[in-house]
Amino acid sequence: MALVTQHWQELEKKYYMRTFNRMPVVLVRGEGCRVWDEQGESYLDMVAGLAVNVLGHCHPAVVDAITRQARQLIHTTNLYYTIPQLELAQLLIENSCADRIFFANSGAEANEGAIKLARKWGRLKRGGAYEIITATDSFHGRTLATLAATGQPKYHKPFEPMPAGFLSVPYNDLDALKRATSERTCAVMLEVIQGESGVHLADHDYLVGVRRWCDEQGLLLIFDEIQCGLGRTGRFLAFEHHGVEPDIFTLAKGLAGGVPIGAFLAKEACSVFEPGDHGSTFGGGPLACAAGVATVSTILRENLAAHSAEIGAYALGKLRELQARHPVVTEVRGLGLMLAFDLADEIAPALALKALGRGVILNATGPRTIRMVPPLIIGTAEVDEAIAVIDDLLRQG
Ligand SMILES: Cc1ncc(COP(=O)(O)O)c(C=O)c1O
Repeated sequence: MALVTQHWQELEKKYYMRTFNRMPVVLVRGEGCRVWDEQGESYLDMVAGLAVNVLGHCHPAVVDAITRQARQLIHTTNLYYTIPQLELAQLLIENSCADRIFFANSGAEANEGAIKLARKWGRLKRGGAYEIITATDSFHGRTLATLAATGQPKYHKPFEPMPAGFLSVPYNDLDALKRATSERTCAVMLEVIQGESGVHLADHDYLVGVRRWCDEQGLLLIFDEIQCGLGRTGRFLAFEHHGVEPDIFTLAKGLAGGVPIGAFLAKEACSVFEPGDHGSTFGGGPLACAAGVATVSTILRENLAAHSAEIGAYALGKLRELQARHPVVTEVRGLGLMLAFDLADEIAPALALKALGRGVILNATGPRTIRMVPPLIIGTAEVDEAIAVIDDLLRQG
């Protein structure tokens, strides 16, 4: 390994919290679907900063927007009106089923806001109901409330006791959700496609059934679109595939093309916050929102959702061919550019490491699962390049 890489690895080991198992490269530059390490080696980025760099790296529209805004106004408080915040609010509301928005700084923070909104609504409109039903194997963030909402006990253990008011039931199991509902329930919170646990799609009938159940019982439906939203699955928002509208939904990740941001959006009927109920020093700041306006308007103008659908279908076909050639690939899943495949053996992390050595960045979401969430601007040539490397590595065993 190059000495300079070793230097940064040693610094990390010495000073950084022991939170990440990092891949052994130091990335210093990005452009389009590629990133470069400090030795000048390039890598095809099939994970896009984990579904963040939706326009690829350093897209000119995002770079220009940040540069222009940085010269004009980087930050002020939410006690004043700022233009990029209102432009991004208008863009997202006019292109979704929501009526109101609040900007946060991350996905977890967006979900925290959605949870608070649902709890306040429950207090006002459902006799003090506060419980939120989520799904097993979901992922909603790393703050205490969003961890409690995350249906993966392995993430809870070190931090117990978890905040009260959350319970998770198996995904795609409407009866389980019905059985879990009580007078304490105020909302159901789901990912339309579970990302972190390895790209698991909700059944259409399930989502339709959940919506109907929430209507019958007077519950709010919250969709976490943090990973699957903003064009990735072939629609601007993933729930649009199902003709089902949530009462509240959350966005983050790709919303500002790589600049930290999050948002929760709600229908008027459940927008029950009043002054003082919620706030954020940085949320909705001019710099992030200017990047957000550039990113979202590019996604819409260039119809990147349709592009994701087309390239995603191509990639899924290629993954299915790969599965036919390699029995070790046991299942292939995906919608648009949210893709994964399972392996019979626990070789996913080793495969991702070998792929890195061959210039392709993949993500192992578990010992047997590889996920790909590339930039939405990716083309068939890049898909072919990634598949060829995976094919070769699987052939070598
Ligand atoms: C569906 C979903 N919700 C929430 C989060 C948390 O977002 P953040 O890491 O920005 O807090 C993630 C992150 O992976 C996610 O995939």
